[in-house]
Amino acid sequence: MNWTTATMTTPDDARTASAVLTINNMHFQWPRNATAWHIPDLQLRAGEHGFLHGASGSGKSTLLALLAGLTVPQSGKITLLGQHFSSRSRRQRDRLRADHIGIIFQQFNLVPYLPAIDNVQLPGHFSRRRRERVHDALYDAARHLLQTLAVPESLWRSPVTALSVGQQQRVAAARALLGAPELILADEPTSALDTDNRDRFLELLMDQARQANSTIVFVSHDPALGRRFSQHHDMQQWQEVPA
Ligand SMILES: Nc1ncnc2c1ncn2[C@@H]1O[C@H](COP(=O)(O)OP(=O)(O)OP(=O)(O)O)[C@@H](O)[C@H]1O
Ligand SMILES: [Mg+2]
Repeated sequence: MNWTTATMTTPDDARTASAVLTINNMHFQWPRNATAWHIPDLQLRAGEHGFLHGASGSGKSTLLALLAGLTVPQSGKITLLGQHFSSRSRRQRDRLRADHIGIIFQQFNLVPYLPAIDNVQLPGHFSRRRRERVHDALYDAARHLLQTLAVPESLWRSPVTALSVGQQQRVAAARALLGAPELILADEPTSALDTDNRDRFLELLMDQARQANSTIVFVSHDPALGRRFSQHHDMQQWQEVPA
């Protein structure tokens, strides 16, 4: 039986199926924290670039944690590539994340004792799919990304802690991009950079994402960066602050 015709019955379902990421009627609240978030409807298609802004504490990193499946909502639904991501077990979410999502964390989360080039190859060790997407040539793919993101070759074998913040950030971006995941989540990756380096970094990131047709969700408290993105969302609109 054809799975598509058997299960896709409404236009809404069809719309969700063609999206990389969809949120429907989602409620979320951290334990022992009065603030809650309600997102009625959000959708990003392949190659679409979303910009998420809002004041410190408005929940930007929280939403990225939900999109990455690191935590799950109390109700509602997050769909990743047609799969009901948020209802899966932690193990299944870990698998889907490793295969389909590249994350640039607010604090980079690079492995400090590993050289830059090894950090970039890590997603390929955790995901056969991402390894296969670079034809098992992990080292070459990492080299190519570090070159493209202008990390000096003399630093590739140094522990990442010996790199400047801007260089570490580009290593983190290269790691997120390795194996062309469908979704890139970037949490304030430019906050430590001056304007020139910030613009250059953004251009490189978006250029690489475009080549892979990856969807981006990019978080920043700086609304000036938003003009490069096709979708804009203010986190505050979804915040339910207790009276
Ligand atoms: N793991 C957690 N457990 C409990 N509460 C949390 C957790 N992470 C975040 N919060 C709470 O959620 C709220 C939003 O935090 P979040 O880190 O998502 O904001 P943000 O918009 O990313 O802020 P910033 O711009 O400072 O990074 C805060 O009140 C914070 O205390
Ligand atoms: Mg944050």
